[in-house]
Amino acid sequence: MARHRIAAFRDCEAALRNRDLKQALYDAGKVVMEGVLLTLHGEEHSARRAVEVRVFRRNFFHYYERVVFPRTLAETLAPYLAAGGGDLLQIGYRLTVNLTADFAGIDRPTRSAEETERLIAITKKLGEGATLVHSTRDHAEVSAEVAAVQAELRDRFFLPSLARRRALLADRDAGRIADADLPRDVLMTLLAGNDELSLSEDQLLREIAFYLQAGAHSTANAVVHALWEMLEWTGDDKSRWARLDDPVFIQHCVHESLRLHPASPEAWRTATFPVKVAGIGDVAGQDRVELDLYLANCDRTIFGETADRFEPDREVPGTVLRSGLAFGIGLHTCLGRELDGGVVARPGADPSEAQLGIVTLILVELLRHGARIIPDDPPQRDAGTFRPNWGRFPVRFTAKGA
Ligand code: HEM
Repeated sequence: MARHRIAAFRDCEAALRNRDLKQALYDAGKVVMEGVLLTLHGEEHSARRAVEVRVFRRNFFHYYERVVFPRTLAETLAPYLAAGGGDLLQIGYRLTVNLTADFAGIDRPTRSAEETERLIAITKKLGEGATLVHSTRDHAEVSAEVAAVQAELRDRFFLPSLARRRALLADRDAGRIADADLPRDVLMTLLAGNDELSLSEDQLLREIAFYLQAGAHSTANAVVHALWEMLEWTGDDKSRWARLDDPVFIQHCVHESLRLHPASPEAWRTATFPVKVAGIGDVAGQDRVELDLYLANCDRTIFGETADRFEPDREVPGTVLRSGLAFGIGLHTCLGRELDGGVVARPGADPSEAQLGIVTLILVELLRHGARIIPDDPPQRDAGTFRPNWGRFPVRFTAKGA
């Protein structure tokens, strides 16, 4: 088996759209990722994805951004505001674990701090298992820890959430409640569509565990990277600070930061049979194609001479997203893209009309409360992974009574 590597934006884009290339990044992370949407291929993938996108029915984004999330945001930030600051990664995880648990269909009956902390610990460990390929730790040790949290997730959270949804489905089938009364989440959607998919309880658990961690890490990291980039960019420039009063501009900053810090700096695919791949040529069956998404997102032929810098006002070609390939493209395009990223609004658009996305909503709130880095307690990188993530990110809230 040969390995090939591509890094040009258009080559990576074409490879992500190529149906003869199959997901391969998570082979080492099988303990978490086997048989979940992101690792399925062909018919099986399309059938599962077609059911899961049904979560987004009936005005989902509007409902989530305007009704569900503002409450979660206010509740989660309150203790940190009262304390004057906290670790932004911890804040990010508290926010996003609530987001992904809601989205995945994991009930949190007590809503206590202990319950949230356990879910965060489970989610972090599942993420470590999924991205084992990039882990600097002993792989067997990580796999054993992952198996333990999978069991905890099943017994404490998943089985009760499953039982509640099965009962609701029975109520719906008996005409006691309407379709619209069912929760809008992946587990509910999968149960309702399980005649088409026939997933076992074990497969349902894996899928839900995947959603829980996939959305949480990427969202928490996106928040931290964006704040870092925005604070670096503004520096002492008052005119730049003034621009951060505009949520639409903040959304542009978020997408520019996503481009520079893709959640996964690379994607891997294997050829299902001999195939031609742009940027490589002939690729034999079973060969691996590695896509350097970090470099692709800094491709000067697409993003200009300053491609590796944070420039939220940058012009991008009409066929390219501001976030580049940060949410993937093609078969496995991120299902959470619109939820997290919103729909990029034009400069000057009315923010109250825009679909800003969860990451921007979080940034707007952090900036409103004057979130700043603490000079004598600076952020530190995460040493447990080759991924360029932050391990600690202490912030102080400087705007009193905002
Ligand atoms: C800033 C936040 C996020 C980023 C940067 C991100 C990035 C990505 C990327 C790059 C992929 C494709 C991977 C590949 O092609 O190998 C992906 C897939 C996926 N993402 Fe996200 N993601 C984010 C948030 C979320 C959220 C919040 C959810 C769920 C609520 C989510 C659910 C998914 C799912 C289900 C897939 C698999 C789609 C498929 O295989 O068909 N993501 N994401």
